[in-house]
Amino acid sequence: MTPFKRIEGKLHVEPQNFIAYRDGQLYMDGVSLAEIATQMGTPCYVYSRDRALANFWRLQGAFPSAEIHYSLKANANLALIGALAQAGAGMDAVSGGEIFRAVRAGVDPSRIVFAGVGKTISDLAYALDTGIGWFNVESASELARLVEMARNKGKRPRVALRINPDVQADTHHYIATGHARAKFGISLSEAQLLLNEYISSPDIDLSGLHIHIGSQLGTVQRTVEGVQAILPLIDAYPEQLLTLNLGGGFPVSYTGEPVPAADAFATALHRCLAGRSLRLLLEPGRYIVADAGVLLVSVEYVKPAPDGVIVVVDGGMTELIRPALYGAIHNVLPVREARTATRATSHVVGPICESADVLRADIALPPLQVGELLAVLHAGAYGAVMGSTYNARPRPPEILIEGEHWRMVRRRETWDDLIRLEVQ
Ligand code: LLP
Repeated sequence: MTPFKRIEGKLHVEPQNFIAYRDGQLYMDGVSLAEIATQMGTPCYVYSRDRALANFWRLQGAFPSAEIHYSLKANANLALIGALAQAGAGMDAVSGGEIFRAVRAGVDPSRIVFAGVGKTISDLAYALDTGIGWFNVESASELARLVEMARNKGKRPRVALRINPDVQADTHHYIATGHARAKFGISLSEAQLLLNEYISSPDIDLSGLHIHIGSQLGTVQRTVEGVQAILPLIDAYPEQLLTLNLGGGFPVSYTGEPVPAADAFATALHRCLAGRSLRLLLEPGRYIVADAGVLLVSVEYVKPAPDGVIVVVDGGMTELIRPALYGAIHNVLPVREARTATRATSHVVGPICESADVLRADIALPPLQVGELLAVLHAGAYGAVMGSTYNARPRPPEILIEGEHWRMVRRRETWDDLIRLEVQ
């Protein structure tokens, strides 16, 4: 990886300086982001393969014996997941479509786990036929459906019950999943009944528990509480329940705010699981890809605001919905390094006809010209995958940087793509 001379902005989580200014231009790994924008246009997603792999290996280092299943929902680009699979990652899927993507990317089906509260009959049939590694079952009725389908197909799938431990994760309420009122998982008392009934089932291999209390977890403590809550279930079936899937949720620092490191989760969880020889599975999404991606946008207009300026750019909530949906804060850096110390309070907004279409409010940015490029950071997770074509906006291209080289791994959609599936 190229060593850079200096870094500007609050790039808190980049020990390898993989996003930094070089000769006045922002680089990602060995590539100038301006060069990509010139060739591909904006808006445009750019991913660093090497940063995603570094994140994967850092997490594997914190949990050396765990099997990591990358959570496809964060970013399911085929080239990116292919690189992760080659590095040894399994995959966590939540739909038949994600399983299909993983298989297309070359993932061994036995390394795929399948979660989700609403698995359809056709998704379950496809997953059974494909021979995926684990079904993370979220309700008694799903379990009954799976048992019947498995029996009819003559398969014996491996099953983990996803437990809702009733702990309130400290994160945005839209992405907290482990409290009793959340739609996810099975309560401890119901799980107890299901274990009694199915632990020796000839139709399924019920041999694990699964827990995922939320995403972007603010502390380790709630995860520990969740695991502690389910330990009595595990200890009641020490011969059968040999696998514990701890889910994902490992946080990243979006703007330099302190977040617990993967090591902190590992230390606390190992302490809590001491004395048990469980096979551990993890399902990280954000931790692997968030900081490995940027969204490049161009300035279309600058106009005055009561407290500064409104910077209208050519990408918005259709490309990156996180600020509009969760009030998420993403850092924004000018691609051309500022030559002055002057900064104005700026509100970086998209062109979409919604007042929520603000990519970043209240950020101090240098004076910006029309046509100037901005990089929205930490856009690699839950960015492109949550994009839409609202306002008839074609989805942007996706670029993968592989060391010093880059290539387009998804082309920009066209207006024709937008109407291709419609009948007049
Ligand atoms: N496992 C399960 C069962 C999950 O539901 C999720 C995320 C993950 C793993 C991966 O979580 P991660 O490691 O990425 O935190 N769109 C939201 C995040 C939604 C997360 C949904 N489930 C956002 O942009 O913040």
